[in-house]
Parts: sequence; structure tokens; C-alpha cells
Amino acid sequence: MIGRLNHVAIAVPDLEAAAADYRGTLGAKVSDPLPQPEHGVTVVFIELPNTKIELLHPLGEKSPIQAFLDKNPSGGIHHICYEVEDILAARDAMKAEGKRVLGNGDPKIGAHGKPVLFLHPKDFTGTLVELEQA
Ligand code: CO
Repeated sequence: MIGRLNHVAIAVPDLEAAAADYRGTLGAKVSDPLPQPEHGVTVVFIELPNTKIELLHPLGEKSPIQAFLDKNPSGGIHHICYEVEDILAARDAMKAEGKRVLGNGDPKIGAHGKPVLFLHPKDFTGTLVELEQA
């Protein structure tokens, strides 16, 4: 059911330093920081030939990234995002398999303006999985 790997999201304590590493040391195409207050993060998008990396940094008081950084002070992989053709069909298939969909189960509009859902990491080998209708 899942298609392409859309992106890997990495929570970082220092967005400037992380962006500089990807731009300079690794020679990647790196965007300017983009505040996304509705998601509680500032994002730097990194375009690779076959996928994207998103560097996430907390924005605001109730950022969903802050608790992760408290547990992982040097940063780490926060989630991976797979593309699906139909987000509602994907949600129903996950529920039918007994997998937990986070939140109220309704897709939200994600960082790319497309509907997304998150699946419980304990149901997927310790990895927070985002599904995005591509
Ligand atoms: Co994501």
C-alpha cells in the first residue's frame, strides 16, 4: 500500500548548525528556515535526488518536538513519511489491522499542504510513521 519515501524528519537542537552541516559539509540543497506555527515547528527542507529530509526545531510553547528533544538532547530521527494514494483508505486499513492512528483519526494538513496522519510508534517497531496523501 505505501509508496515512495516522502521524507525523513530529524529533530535538531540547533537549526542553524544542522542546516550548515547539510549545506556545507554534505553539499545538499537546503532551504531557508520556514516557521510553521500551526505545527509548532520551524522546518528546514533538504532536497535530495530521491527524497527529502526535514530538519525540525521547536517553535512556540507547546511544540510536539520539545519532548523528543528533551529525551534526545543532541537530536535524532523523529519520524519517517510514506506516501499513500488515499489517506482515508489508508487510515481505515490501519485501523482494521489494529494499528493506532494518532489524534482523532482525521487527516490534518501537513507541512506540504497535503493530508497526513501519524501512526503510533509502538505499533511500528519504535518508529513514528507519517502517511501523506501524495
Ligand atoms: Co513529516
